[in-house]
Amino acid sequence: MFVLRKPILMLADSTVVRRMITAFPPTRAVVNRFVAGEATADAVRTIGELAASRRLATVDHLGEYTADPSQADATADAYIQLIEALDAAGTATGVEMSLKLSAFGAGLPASERVPGGGEAYALAGARRVTVAAYAAGARITVDMEDHTTVDATLRTLKSLRAEYPDVGVAIQAMLYRTESDLRELVGQGSRVRLVKGAYDEPADVAHQGTAAVDRAYVRALKQLMAGDGYPMIGSHDPRMIAIADRLALRSRRGPADYEHQMLYGIRVDEQQRLSDAGKQIRVYVPYGSDWYGYFTRRLAERPANLAFFLRAMVAHGERR
Ligand code: FDA
Repeated sequence: MFVLRKPILMLADSTVVRRMITAFPPTRAVVNRFVAGEATADAVRTIGELAASRRLATVDHLGEYTADPSQADATADAYIQLIEALDAAGTATGVEMSLKLSAFGAGLPASERVPGGGEAYALAGARRVTVAAYAAGARITVDMEDHTTVDATLRTLKSLRAEYPDVGVAIQAMLYRTESDLRELVGQGSRVRLVKGAYDEPADVAHQGTAAVDRAYVRALKQLMAGDGYPMIGSHDPRMIAIADRLALRSRRGPADYEHQMLYGIRVDEQQRLSDAGKQIRVYVPYGSDWYGYFTRRLAERPANLAFFLRAMVAHGERR
């Protein structure tokens, strides 16, 4: 894990830094490396391009931590519009939608407009998208956000699974609670995306440092592969990918019994190598205009991403 990760994530939270980065012209070029575009048509096109190279897709309509019910409604509408567009293009089957519950209003306080509180509001929106997705042959995975949201996310997952048992969920290896959460989540048909964790978490809830997080990831991988569910390996780390493949072999899983997942624009050669080797690989495709949170987490993850951004800034400064 990149040593500057924590300071970058903390800095990115500042309103001044946010204003500077979003207003800075070269940012756009760097964002384009990680984000598929702003419009529904961009997402549809990208999913088609991935399919042409035998890569599956899970799509994220960018946005998180909304403080406005209308914005939460607009998020659900955007997903439904995308599902309809994919359905019309004949490419909805097998595509997955990745939902961030904070974008569906999970953090909204109870009010006249949100009588049951944010959690109920987000469940209603997520359910609306889930119904549309399943009707079109698509699937849902619920992303995991910072540790304060895990209990509510798992409750929402349970509600969605009551009707659609194979709704997936992302689980973060870095959290101490993960081993116990996974015990409940490795049953028949349970789709679980295992990730290291992208948020700046305190030491009382999460492993700190690369080695500890990697060890936790391997332990969680073993739990998942030994279970009866469907593991989704959300990592670009060559070591984790190799260990996942070895564990899959050992637990007699064929290529259809688990999948690898990577983010759009990251390790594209490796995505293609896995696909060419007959493995299932799914690419997380973010699209939309609210890219700031997603983008800064990518900068915080890897020196090369930050260096690319800083080089673009310097080049811009020199041109002026
Ligand atoms: P990490 O960043 O630790 O890198 C380890 C090694 O991988 C590097 O040393 C290098 O060898 C290789 N590597 C990584 N990036 C590379 C690159 N660009 N080029 C070449 N080599 C590279 N998080 C979360 O909290 N909630 C969520 O719901 C999700 N969802 C999600 C979906 C999917 C599909 C993915 C892939 C990831 C997430 N994440 C997430 C993010 C996740 O928690 C994590 O922050 C990132 O995946 C980075 O961790 P890695 O395991 O990829 O390796």
